[in-house]
Amino acid sequence: MKIVIITGGSRGIGASAAKLCARSGMGVILTYNSNPAMADAVVAEIEADGGSAVAIKLDVADTSSFPAFRDAVSTALKATWDRSTFDGLVNNAGYGLFNPIVTVTEEEFDGLFAVHLKGPFFLTQALLPIMADGGHILNVASATSRVATAGVAPYASFKGGLQVLTRYMAKEFGARGIRANSIAPGPIRTDLGGGLGDEFEALLASQTALGRVGEPDDVGGAIANLLSDENQWVNAQSIEIAGGYII
Ligand SMILES: NC(=O)c1ccc[n+]([C@@H]2O[C@H](COP(=O)([O-])OP(=O)(O)OC[C@H]3O[C@@H](n4cnc5c(N)ncnc54)[C@H](OP(=O)(O)O)[C@@H]3O)[C@@H](O)[C@H]2O)c1
Repeated sequence: MKIVIITGGSRGIGASAAKLCARSGMGVILTYNSNPAMADAVVAEIEADGGSAVAIKLDVADTSSFPAFRDAVSTALKATWDRSTFDGLVNNAGYGLFNPIVTVTEEEFDGLFAVHLKGPFFLTQALLPIMADGGHILNVASATSRVATAGVAPYASFKGGLQVLTRYMAKEFGARGIRANSIAPGPIRTDLGGGLGDEFEALLASQTALGRVGEPDDVGGAIANLLSDENQWVNAQSIEIAGGYII
């Protein structure tokens, strides 16, 4: 059985990915930061559906916690699946913040950097020793790295950095058969940044070839699919999952 770790798996895209990975036969370790109840609900739903999942707390901004997180992952792998390694890492956790460049504070900039670029970098580094050869790293970036959207400059810049980092991961980990890809979702209806709101959602839908914004399952399904063996020759790519957003 393939075991995958999904950061920020308690809500939104991550929760959908957790459920759809489990449905396709993978064991899932999902993380939450502030809301254990939502993570427990996702685990319960997966178990009710016949799958296996474990929820572990992780603040992606707190690199000092990563060794303890790796230990917690090892304990869960052994206890739940009798394994010492896992196969897939989805760096998905994140948050949104709207503020134009002229008013962004250094604190806001550093917070976004910690979660969207530094965290995935060092979390991947911390978990590599217990990732199986032939594994897969999937980094969740954003279509905002292609389409300049006023108010999200630091976020989009770090997502762009994550796409570059992905190619370096593919280069440096390829010798172990580990591939690395990133996905770039377009606007998806989640609570990110306080949600889209009706007016903005209508505008984004009108800018999308398929005529609507995305739902979490639109991205969760793609994540589950990319993690499957059927995609093992897809490597070092950034794949936009956006229904044809501003094309
Ligand atoms: N929604 C979109 O339109 C969109 C578009 C492009 C890319 N994305 C990206 O997709 C990913 C998922 O976003 P989403 O829309 O599903 O967001 P969401 O519904 O707000 O869920 C965010 C998830 O990340 C977790 N999280 C937040 N801050 C964290 C931290 N410091 N450490 C660890 N976990 C943290 C949350 O955990 P708790 O609830 O426990 O705090 C939650 O599970 C993000 O990387 C986002 O940038 C989203």
